[in-house]
Amino acid sequence: MNCYRIQFRLICTCLTLAMAQLSSEETNKANRFNEVMPSAKSAKNDPLVYELPPLPYAFDALEPVISAEIMKLHYTKHHQAYVNNLNKALKEFAEAEKKQNLAKMSELEGLIEFNGGGHLNHSIFWTNLAPKEKGGGQLPKGSLSEAINQQFGSLKELIAQFDSKLLAIQGSGWGWLGYDPATKRLVIATTTNQEPLSKLGYIPLLGIDIWEHAYYLQYKNAKADYVKAIWEIVNWNNVQERYDQAKKE
Ligand SMILES: [Fe+2]
Repeated sequence: MNCYRIQFRLICTCLTLAMAQLSSEETNKANRFNEVMPSAKSAKNDPLVYELPPLPYAFDALEPVISAEIMKLHYTKHHQAYVNNLNKALKEFAEAEKKQNLAKMSELEGLIEFNGGGHLNHSIFWTNLAPKEKGGGQLPKGSLSEAINQQFGSLKELIAQFDSKLLAIQGSGWGWLGYDPATKRLVIATTTNQEPLSKLGYIPLLGIDIWEHAYYLQYKNAKADYVKAIWEIVNWNNVQERYDQAKKE
């Protein structure tokens, strides 16, 4: 087995494992939200074909923090494009592999990583958000709030440190609250472009998209206003679920 085939299998395995981390609750929401994911397609019999996951709320559910226009574009155009480009690259990679075309395989590897990361990061992001009337912005009491208070002193201080790092990103990227399995502690980190947090060895709990497509139509150049407002719709219950799961791994 050559190195490209090994790397390809690793990428696919990482994507499959990471997507499996999305909670079963998200899967159960699929039927309820079919009306907002008309382009989703079934790919249950092909592990190399990925599909847009269900959006767990209507396009306008996160207003006024995120407008319906942005949600619709972000989900149906940007995220869908990552899924489409990932599937296209995976198909071409498999064909190149059959022909032992190493040059083509090498060329496609970057596309698989970029679009696979985009698909993974957005799949996490949608579930990290919730309308205010459904608990958005409310950190429940429990092991996560205890860990936050122990490590950062308060949620307010965590947010201040997170925002500082998020706004320091040059260009496109993501801000993350992650879990470090080596130290068993929370970490704040950033990644550029569509690099997933797993590249740094951390398990993602909360990801905030700082690409311009996430805010520019609504906030224009006031990126700090977007960053400040998004905390009002963070789904801390989902972050708590991910924290509980991460500690078991
Ligand atoms: Fe995005």
